[in-house]
Amino acid sequence: MKIKPFGVEQWMNAWETKCELNLAETCVASLTLAELMQIAGTTQQMPADLAAMQMTYGEIRGSTRLRGLVAGMFEGQGAENVLITHGTIGANHMVYQALVGNNDHVVAITPTYQQHTAIPRSLGAEVTEVALSEDQNWLPNWDVVAAAVTPATNVIALTNPNNPTGALIGREGLERITEIARSVDAWVLCDEVYRGTEQGGPVPSIVDMYDKGISTGSTSKAFSLAGLRLGWIIGRESLLDACEIHRDYTTISVGMVDDYFAAMAIEVKTEVLGRSRKITRGNLALLDDWVKQEPKARYVKPQAGTTAFVALDVAMASYDQCVALLQETGVMFTPGSALGFEGYVRIGFACYPDVLKEGLARVSVWLAKQS
Ligand SMILES: Cc1ncc(COP(=O)(O)O)c(C=O)c1O
Repeated sequence: MKIKPFGVEQWMNAWETKCELNLAETCVASLTLAELMQIAGTTQQMPADLAAMQMTYGEIRGSTRLRGLVAGMFEGQGAENVLITHGTIGANHMVYQALVGNNDHVVAITPTYQQHTAIPRSLGAEVTEVALSEDQNWLPNWDVVAAAVTPATNVIALTNPNNPTGALIGREGLERITEIARSVDAWVLCDEVYRGTEQGGPVPSIVDMYDKGISTGSTSKAFSLAGLRLGWIIGRESLLDACEIHRDYTTISVGMVDDYFAAMAIEVKTEVLGRSRKITRGNLALLDDWVKQEPKARYVKPQAGTTAFVALDVAMASYDQCVALLQETGVMFTPGSALGFEGYVRIGFACYPDVLKEGLARVSVWLAKQS
């Protein structure tokens, strides 16, 4: 299977260990296991739990405890609607493997995570990209989406909250997308990995609104536990059965230790997500102040997520801007070109506040010297 190289991952692999201040990161400042156990009150209990764990493959779809806890984060889902995967990246991949092949048509709302265009193309599908624009606050024009679907469309893919723009489609927009999908009997794959990072109230999940809605997500972003590599697919049972056929070849099961810590985190979701909101809301206020006072920066303020898509008024392509910033200031952003969208840089704002403040201050000094 031939597939296009993954722009963002290549950028990260090349620079992540060489920067001083990482504003390319998209996870809310990651927790240590010690911090997680402190929040969960399990510091004493954990060693005995791990010592008693018999290292079998565990429950193949993920532990019943974990699947029940994940289901509890949705409105109308039970453990039977949850399949545990190797991160959202494993979840998305498996959904496309199960649903898409030659002669299929996928509509992907972009910019997005590159999986949603590259994987269906690699599987032989035709992909129509519906591009968002800054003028429309990075929200879809539903007439354009409706015009893009055809009777051959079997998946409409989107990321909500959106990476990289931080735009958030609310209930009304999600209702529009389900109407459009229903008109051609398509699935809607909504990558909800940034769920839980909303600046205001939560929005519903697609899986609770549409019988062919699929939600993918993980403990990486709002739960600050990317190191667990623990994600999920939520959907109707027949979809999960189809995904499991592929999963048997690539995954068997996820690690029991990862499953254990993920369940621990979701059990105290109020505290873990509360910590994340404090970071994302406090830091977005810092970023917003910076954009307002920085004459060479412009953006649409994110409504959710951990990233903002910012236009810098510097006469260089986004890749060159980001390399120059790295080399001259030590600050790492992500170029829009790595996301297929020239003219912007992606700023990850969910790191610790001191890193964000110092990074933006250095960028301002650099911007002042650019023509
Ligand atoms: C939109 C989106 N989907 C999926 C992923 C993969 O996340 P995970 O760590 O859950 O595999 C990312 C990671 O940045 C992402 O931004």
